Amino acid sequence: MKSFKTTLIFLIVELSFVLPTPNSAVITCYHLVGNSWEKAQVVENASTHQIKEICNESDEQKQCVEVKGSVKILYEDSFKGIPKLSEIEVYSETNLEEIEPGTFTDLPKLDILDLSGNNLQEIKSGTFVNLKVQHLILQRNSISLLREGAFVNLSDVQKLSLERNNLQELKRGVFQELYVVQLEFGSNNISKIEVGTFASVFPRDEGGIILNLSNNSFTEIDASVFDYKYSVYALMLAKNSISILRPGDLRNLPNLKYVLLSENKLKEVPEGVFNGSKIVSIELDNNEISFIGSKAFDDMKDLTFVNISNNKLKEWNNDWFCGEGAKVIRLSYNYLETIPVEAFTNIPGGSMLKLDHNRIQSISDSAFKNVTYLDSIDLSYNEIQEWNVDLMRNVKTDGAVDLNGNKIKCPESGSNSLAPKARIVYLSYSCPQVIEKALYFSDEV
Ligand SMILES: *[C@@H]1O[C@H](CO)[C@@H](O)[C@H](O)[C@H]1NC(C)=O
Ligand SMILES: *[C@@H]1O[C@H](CO)[C@@H](O)[C@H](O)[C@H]1NC(C)=O
Ligand SMILES: *[C@@H]1O[C@H](CO)[C@@H](O)[C@H](O)[C@H]1NC(C)=O
Ligand SMILES: *[C@@H]1O[C@H](CO)[C@@H](O)[C@H](O)[C@H]1NC(C)=O
Ligand SMILES: *[C@@H]1O[C@H](CO)[C@@H](O)[C@H](O)[C@H]1NC(C)=O
Ligand SMILES: *[C@@H]1O[C@H](CO)[C@@H](O)[C@H](O)[C@H]1NC(C)=O
Ligand SMILES: *[C@@H]1O[C@H](CO)[C@@H](O)[C@H](O)[C@H]1NC(C)=O
Ligand SMILES: *[C@@H]1O[C@H](CO)[C@@H](O)[C@H](O)[C@H]1NC(C)=O
Ligand SMILES: *[C@@H]1O[C@H](CO)[C@@H](O)[C@H](O)[C@H]1NC(C)=O
Repeated sequence: MKSFKTTLIFLIVELSFVLPTPNSAVITCYHLVGNSWEKAQVVENASTHQIKEICNESDEQKQCVEVKGSVKILYEDSFKGIPKLSEIEVYSETNLEEIEPGTFTDLPKLDILDLSGNNLQEIKSGTFVNLKVQHLILQRNSISLLREGAFVNLSDVQKLSLERNNLQELKRGVFQELYVVQLEFGSNNISKIEVGTFASVFPRDEGGIILNLSNNSFTEIDASVFDYKYSVYALMLAKNSISILRPGDLRNLPNLKYVLLSENKLKEVPEGVFNGSKIVSIELDNNEISFIGSKAFDDMKDLTFVNISNNKLKEWNNDWFCGEGAKVIRLSYNYLETIPVEAFTNIPGGSMLKLDHNRIQSISDSAFKNVTYLDSIDLSYNEIQEWNVDLMRNVKTDGAVDLNGNKIKCPESGSNSLAPKARIVYLSYSCPQVIEKALYFSDEV
């Protein structure tokens, strides 16, 4: 497959000099010979009715047809009589507008159907009925309408991509009997999913489904939409207009592991949205969050990554990140001003803390009480003036303590004196004379 892609890149370069006449295509056939695709036929000015003659069935195991040029319609007979066809690519500049239902029947070996970059506006009922493809790629068209039964019984489809179209709503009855790994709906204008839309969409394996709804127009997460229990494991909702998260919004997604909510309009993260779940990673960066409930991330034994950078948090809460397991905690670019008494006492050992680019002026003398081991802590680009040399006396780190970009008095005895058990303390950007010395290398730990 790899070598085919390579061939294709060269081919596109080659063909860019051939300007096809309107309503005619450049049809290229490939055969799989051993492990690589070999170009078998290239015919210019062809009609899609001729594909069968051009890509004559051969003894090869698999065949591929690439159609470029100007093709408005794919007809019912376009791909008939090529039973070994395993890939069809009709894409870019082809301006395909219509597919007659029945075009893709009798293609038992078809794995990949790629219709990217065309001008399709709707998908009719039964267009892909009983197709056994693994990848059905419809991205970069102008699809605004999916008819009832548009995607029925695609029993082998792993990835269905409708990314970059003009969809506004997903409706019930469009997706039936699908067993998928990945559903791509990113970069449309979807603001609504009808209840029941995913009622007969099932995960292909135990891992669950990746559901990409990023770069759309959602304003909330409607829990009742996700009635396909135990299935979604990655929910991507970055770049929407979600302004509210409510307790229970994710209640129908008990297998969720990755949640992407970057670049929305969230102001608060209350308790009861994430706590108690199996989520591993939560990305909440680039919102307007100024409040996070004390127990918002409680009882999450798998949580290892939280990104809340680029928000409006002013106050650190000691109870945010309790619980077992080292975590990567990113709070860069917020408005934190003080690090209070026992702030990090509850942080699990081995965690990585990113607190750079806040407005931290003071750090309580007991901020690190009972903390003995961190991966690293980044306090760079804050407004720290006083650094108590006893603050991190007992804190060992595998990585760096970054104190650059503050107003700390440069220590004559080298940067290590500020955190004697840290592997290295970065300060030389602010204090060019200071000696930074790594105590040991991380792989010796
Ligand atoms: C394709 O059509 C154009 C215009 O009709 C013609 O000039 C050209 O020779 C044709 N190419 C082939 C390979 O038939
Ligand atoms: C298919 O190819 C064979 C030889 O490879 C040829 O004899 C036959 O005419 C071709 N059929 C069509 C429909 O082009
Ligand atoms: C789906 O396909 C299976 C076998 O491929 C068939 O038995 C079944 O009737 C089909 N269902 C629908 C709704 O088309
Ligand atoms: C999800 O969709 C967005 C928007 O179209 C896209 O930028 C992103 O690459 C997609 N992510 C994945 C993992 O497919
Ligand atoms: C978001 O979607 C718009 C149109 O739907 C598109 O132009 C833009 O490139 C997309 N942005 C990303 C980051 O995918
Ligand atoms: C997105 O959809 C809304 C209706 O939900 C519509 O008012 C708006 O014009 C659409 N935006 C684009 C860019 O198509
Ligand atoms: C999560 O938060 C809600 C609301 O505060 C609370 O009722 C619930 O007991 C919490 N669940 C877990 C598992 O911590
Ligand atoms: C966390 O969010 C910041 C701010 O948007 C972003 O720059 C960074 O790449 C994110 N980090 C990770 C590891 O996702
Ligand atoms: C700190 O550790 C001591 C001894 O291990 C323990 O008694 C104390 O409760 C801990 N303090 C906090 C705030 O966890």
